[in-house]
Order: sequence, then structure tokens, then C-alpha cells
Amino acid sequence: MLATMGALGLAPTAEAAGREPAFSAPRTGDFTLTGKGAARVVIVGGGIAGLAVAYELGKAGYDCTVLEARDRTGGRNFTVRGGDTNLDLSGNRQTARFSDGQYLNAGPARIPQWMVTMDYCRELGVPVEVFTNVNASAYIYNEKAGMTAPVRYRTAKADVYGYVSELLAKATDTGALDAELSAEDRERLLEFLKGFGDIGGTLRYEGSERRGYRVDPAASGTPGVELGAVPSASEVFASGVGRYFSFEFGYDQAMLMFQPVGGMDRIPAALTRAIGAHRIRTGAAVQRITDTAHGVSVTYTEHGRVRTLDADYCVAALPPNILARTAHNLGADVQTALEACKPSSAGKIGLEYRSRWWESDHRIYGGITETDLDLAHVWYPSYGHHGRRGLIVGYYNTGAQADAYARLTPREREARAVAQGVKIHGEKYRTELASSFSHHWRQTPYLEASWHSLSGGPDAPVFDPLNKPAGRVYFAGDHLSYADAWQHGAFTSARKVVTALHARVLT
Ligand code: ALA
Repeated sequence: MLATMGALGLAPTAEAAGREPAFSAPRTGDFTLTGKGAARVVIVGGGIAGLAVAYELGKAGYDCTVLEARDRTGGRNFTVRGGDTNLDLSGNRQTARFSDGQYLNAGPARIPQWMVTMDYCRELGVPVEVFTNVNASAYIYNEKAGMTAPVRYRTAKADVYGYVSELLAKATDTGALDAELSAEDRERLLEFLKGFGDIGGTLRYEGSERRGYRVDPAASGTPGVELGAVPSASEVFASGVGRYFSFEFGYDQAMLMFQPVGGMDRIPAALTRAIGAHRIRTGAAVQRITDTAHGVSVTYTEHGRVRTLDADYCVAALPPNILARTAHNLGADVQTALEACKPSSAGKIGLEYRSRWWESDHRIYGGITETDLDLAHVWYPSYGHHGRRGLIVGYYNTGAQADAYARLTPREREARAVAQGVKIHGEKYRTELASSFSHHWRQTPYLEASWHSLSGGPDAPVFDPLNKPAGRVYFAGDHLSYADAWQHGAFTSARKVVTALHARVLT
């Protein structure tokens, strides 16, 4: 009752206090005192936002229909397995030839612990496992900075932390920080730096066992041989390896991260089951959304036939760049806002290998290699360790790098990605390759974006018309959240719309 009053502006809400409002899903019991009934809702777009709206409204018995233009639900949550086919807007048709158990999460692939995506996994019974976002054994390779061989994260970190600590210790010792720090503070800082940079009593960085070993420590008689040839501070900074270390400090990228066991699309699959397949029409491309005085009329094509669906309300949960090209009568301000959501590019290539040479030869079990090559990020699988085959994400790039790969044919993408990856991993990167599948979101029909950039954020005035209903049409999607490009954004946006719509129906 309080939540409903809050949504109607009759009671103070958590939102008003600057906190995220607690979400309570609509329940059938909500209607018993009002004498009102659940409404008919047509949801345009069967991605995470649209599915979450149908799922949550379904709990209270709403009569929901999801119209999804593609032949499967999930939107950008797309897991590619053997046999999956994709035809992109440039006419490239690919069929994945991955073997059983191997998959590529072409879209979302990692979940931070704090995001509501984890709550949905729990509620829907989708098992999760750790996704390794950072690995001390993975590589860094900055070719443009003059590196001729990759270095391990652990080695790069030891050197960067070591020299930064040495320099700060020197500054402290020579009195450069006296105005900032008391004598006691300086002592404490030096104590911290000794440990942080492994610079010992000399306060100089002269290498460290943290860099790794050429010969690993073993039984008595084998103390191990540390990696030698410690580069100078100048060489370390010139290599640019330090630029990647802040990534793991991010609120949304810090370990531990998680992934559903078996592929990210276990989430839309579970939502689809919970909603009921009979409520979801795939292959249904929306042509027009009309807000009438008493309801909403949605026209769509299904297998070439034009159909119309009338409902009490509509939730437009399709990408804003696609809705901007769809006929509607929702007003010029809505159109301006939709056009202000700028689509971004991202692409990935899945490379299946006949052996897990990165585990056996490089001792890398999951994690990410960072490069300044056009591959950007190379991901090792966080599943199937010690299995026979495995799948590496050969590139995960964005912006101009993604666009450049998208312009190539799938074969050319593979050849280019492999040639680049050989520089880091050696010839097995080529010789052990079994098959590949590349995917680019800007070129994907009915999506045409990896995510969107909204200048000024989702609460900038130009986006106001999307943050409230236009008549009986509501808008949902990760772009209308502070977690764009995350399923969390889609889920929380969906919950916000569900709360507002349900409160309206109850009045
Ligand atoms: N959320 C996306 C990622 O983690 C952009 O890569």
C-alpha cells in the first residue's frame, strides 16, 4: 500500500531520498480490495527489459503479449552455439560450427555480484559460476608502445607498483611531501609502500618474486629462479602496461564476477519459460504504435502478414534507435529523445580450439589479456577447464575497431584476429584453431547497437519524454538507466516501469 501511495506521490519514497526504491513485484492480491482487474499489456521487444516487464506483470495476472522481431528472445543476450545462424545487415551469413558444450556469449558475458541480474538468476533457478575478469597469469601486449613480447599481468604489476612505490618513497624521504604529511604519516606511508611495491628496507625496487619465475619453486634443491632482466622505471612507464590496472577497481568490473553455467542466454530462456511461450510472438516486427484515448494499438508483421494487437497499455522495450524509425503518434519530444540516444558499436569473435593450449602451455585459466592491438581484449574461457576443446574470445572491441572488423567478411575477420593473436600466443593460435564465429551488434537486424550513449545521462532534460509514459505507452531499456550496457540496467528500468504501470492500473 505504501509503495503504491509512494508511486502515486502520496507518500515519501526511497527515491525522493535519493535511494533506489525497493522493488515489490505486483501480486494478484493487489487487486482484491480495488475491484479492478489486471490490464492487457503489449510489450514491444523481447530483450531483457521486455521479458522482465512481462515476467513481473505476469506475477499479478496481467495479460501480457511480447512482440519480438527476431526469431528468439533475449535481445543482445545472445549465446552462440553450434548450429546457430546469423545473417547480418551486410549480408554475411554465418553458421556456428562450435562443438558440444562450447559457446560464445556474443553480448553480455559477466555479472557483478551487486547487480539485480544475480537476484533474477537466483529467483529463476539459473545456476551461476565465477567469471574470471582478472588473471595475474594473463598477458599485456602493447605493440604500439614498442613491446616485442607480451608480459604477464603479475610481472607488469610488480614493476609498476614497485617503481611507483620507490618514487613516492623517495619524494617522502627527500621532504617533498613534508607540507602534506606529519612525521608519523610519513612513517606510515613508507611502511605501506614497502609492502605495496615490495621495495624492502632499501626503498628501492630491484625486482621481486611477484614478477614470477623462470623456474618455479619446487622440492628441496629447487628454490626456483626468478624472472630476470628487470626493466628500468622509464622502460616500464614507456610500455604503458599500467593503463589496464584501474579496470579492476571499477564498481562494475571488480572481481568476483559471475556467469550463468552453460551460457548467458540461460537467463532469457528461464524468463521465457516463466512468462509462457504462448505469450511471446517471435518474428513479429512492429510497424506502428498508436496511442488511442483508451488504449494502444500495435501493428506488426508476422511471416509477411500484417496484424494488429490492441491492449490497454504498451511498453516499448525495443532499442531507441529502432523505435526512432518506427511509425508512432507519441509526439515530437519522444522522437527527439529517441534520436538523441546514439548507438554504439561492439564486436566479438569466438575462436574454438582443438586443445586448451592456453591452459597447458601458458598456465592461463580464464581471465583477459589486454592489448593495444585492434583486438582490444582477448578472453580465455572461465568454464570447461581441462576439457578437450575450448573457446577463446579472440577480440572484444568497440567503436572504430569494431567497425573496422565489421566491414570484413567473417573469414577475413578470423584471419586478421588470428594474425594479431599469434603475436601474443605463438603459432598454436593458428594451428589449433577449429572454427570461428564473429558477431557485431551495429550490423545485427532489429538491434543495430551494442548499447547507446545518452549525452548528459538518462535524466538529462531531453530524455524526460522517455522517463514517463507517453499516454499509455511506457519506455524501458538499459539506455534509460545508469547501468547502460548491463542487464542490470534493463532489469531496473523494467522494474521502474512495472511499478508505475501497476500503480496506475490500481487507481
Ligand atoms: N557491460 C559491458 C562489459 O562488461 C560493456 O563489457
